[in-house]
Parts: sequence; C-alpha cells; structure tokens
Amino acid sequence: MTTASAAPAPSATTAPAAAQPLLHQRGAEIQHFGTVKQLPIALSHDARMYACQRLNRLLADTQMLYGLYKKHHWLMRGATFHQLHLLLDQHATAQLAVVDALAERVQSLGGVAVGDPRHAAEITSIPRPPNGVEEVPAMLSRLLEAHETILGDARDAARKVAEQGDDGSNDMIVSEVIRTGETQAWFLAEHLVDTPLTQVSRTAPAHPEDGAARG
Ligand SMILES: [Fe+2]
Repeated sequence: MTTASAAPAPSATTAPAAAQPLLHQRGAEIQHFGTVKQLPIALSHDARMYACQRLNRLLADTQMLYGLYKKHHWLMRGATFHQLHLLLDQHATAQLAVVDALAERVQSLGGVAVGDPRHAAEITSIPRPPNGVEEVPAMLSRLLEAHETILGDARDAARKVAEQGDDGSNDMIVSEVIRTGETQAWFLAEHLVDTPLTQVSRTAPAHPEDGAARG
C-alpha cells in the first residue's frame, strides 16, 4: 500500500513530492453523531439537538423512500410500464432533493447528518421490501405506505420544532418534506383506482335535459 511516508522517489517520470497527493489517510472522528456544535444562530443547544434528531430520522426514512423509488422504477412492468417508469424516476429525483435539504438543515444546526445508507438503514422505520419483485399494485402500495410513515412523522416534527422556536426547520419540513410527499402520494394513489380504460362500467341515470334536447 502506498502511504504518505512511502511516496515514490523522484525520477524523470515521477512527479516531485510537492505534487504528490497524500493518499490513504485515516483519522479519528472530530464530531460524533448525535452531537451539535455551537453556531451563532440564536437557537438554544436543546432546540438544535431536538431538531437534528427529528431531521435525521426524516432523513433516514427519506433516503429509504428514494431507494424504494429507484428500485420500483427499475422493476416496474405491465401495460403502464413506461408511464410509471418515468413517474417513479421523477419522484425519486424530487426525493433526492429533499434528502439534500434535510441533511443540510442538520448541518446548519451544528449537527451531523446521516450520510451512509447503512447508517440510515439502522435508523429508518420504513420496512425493508423483498429483494425480488412484487406485483405492481403491491409496489405502489409499498411506496404509499412509506409516504404516509414519513408524512405522519413530519407533521409531528414540524409542530414540535416550531414549539421550540425553530421556525427554519418547521418551514423546511412543511415546504419540502410534507408538500412534496403529499403531491407524490396523490399521484401514486390515483394509479390504484380500479377504473375502466375503454368502456364505462356504470350507466348514469337519464338526465331530464337529454330527453328535452332530443325533442
Ligand atoms: Fe433510470
């Protein structure tokens, strides 16, 4: 293994040591997960600690939702394959933006955002899907349930961080997590309405004007 102390000796074909990156470095953690550092944002330590904990849980769940969207984007099938394949990718992209906003909110409060997906998997409350393929309605239902889990937690978190004076986290949770999630849940749920595509299945009662118009 090449180390900083074992940089290659300079030669006609080797860059000088001043140009050599110092590779394979390791170091101790300089801030542990679950701690907050002091930042001059006029928000108490306790309020920032509480918000970071709630935001990190939403962050872990949203990372799982993003993963579920990509999985189901890839595994989609059936007569509406193309439409759903594209829709789920759009939703995944929007959720990835929410992931970034949540993580950066944690950092702006002095905390440490959940970054590694293996760490997120330890924290999340979103159930793990099977590694294989489920039928399309089951995949869509799984996504809807993940949305509802996140939305329920987000509503509670938004209220409680506001009670502690953290309007910025409240605004971020409401405007990004809740509004994005609600719209996406609507789009998904409409795909689970059993509606005929080419022929009406229920006959409407005759409208009085229909007869008058026909004379
Ligand atoms: Fe894709």
